[in-house]
Amino acid sequence: MSKIIIAIDGYSSCGKSSTAKKAAAYIGYSYIDTGAMYRAVTLFFIQNHVSASSEKEVAAALENINIEFRLSTTGLNETYLNGLNVEDEIRKLYVANKVSEVSAIAEVRHAMVAQQRKMAKKRGFVMDGRDIGTVVFPEAELKIFMTADPLVRAQRRQIELMAKGEITDLEDILKNIEKRDIIDTTRAESPLRQAEDAVVIDTTFMTLDEQVDQVILLADMVISQKLRG
Ligand code: DC
Repeated sequence: MSKIIIAIDGYSSCGKSSTAKKAAAYIGYSYIDTGAMYRAVTLFFIQNHVSASSEKEVAAALENINIEFRLSTTGLNETYLNGLNVEDEIRKLYVANKVSEVSAIAEVRHAMVAQQRKMAKKRGFVMDGRDIGTVVFPEAELKIFMTADPLVRAQRRQIELMAKGEITDLEDILKNIEKRDIIDTTRAESPLRQAEDAVVIDTTFMTLDEQVDQVILLADMVISQKLRG
């Protein structure tokens, strides 16, 4: 079997995680959501009043953070922070509002990248984030860069939050998305950018199924090319 690494990067809320999760399940690969890791670190910072501007506090906090993914009874990977299931909490807007600030800290990124490389010891996985194809696994055989119109992304996030019982103003979500785009693309440490060899998927007018099909098609092409040597 010729297993590959599939790296999916792109802006927030353009369908990366949902697409990656479904495509991975179809191909029979594991799925690693690196955004969930940065969100879990952010939740820890909020809960423990860690100051993002204090190197000492950040270093001490990182020593005390343990993030794991565990399979739920429904077969989904859920995020655990120091043994507690935080899957729902990390998706809330108060965490989203702070996550770009926390994920811009160099020490936080170094710790997460090291953990991501450790988690993915065996080939045959889909990993999504902002720097997977550029920094974490530049050797990935398939790199996808996802983008979509900010308003469409805000509408999708609103529907997602509503499904979880969180009623949020569309304007607030749009502001959060635009602010995160700026921080994610302009931070000094591994900013979000498209890898030169990435395939761009603009999901503005695509359904989730279409996005998943496109990723599966690309993966099939790369895997069969690899098999042919
Ligand atoms: O994919 P997401 O929206 O759950 O990611 C949350 C935040 O984490 C996002 O604003 C940027 C950051 N992030 C990052 O800096 N690097 C990654 N590999 C993944 C996420």
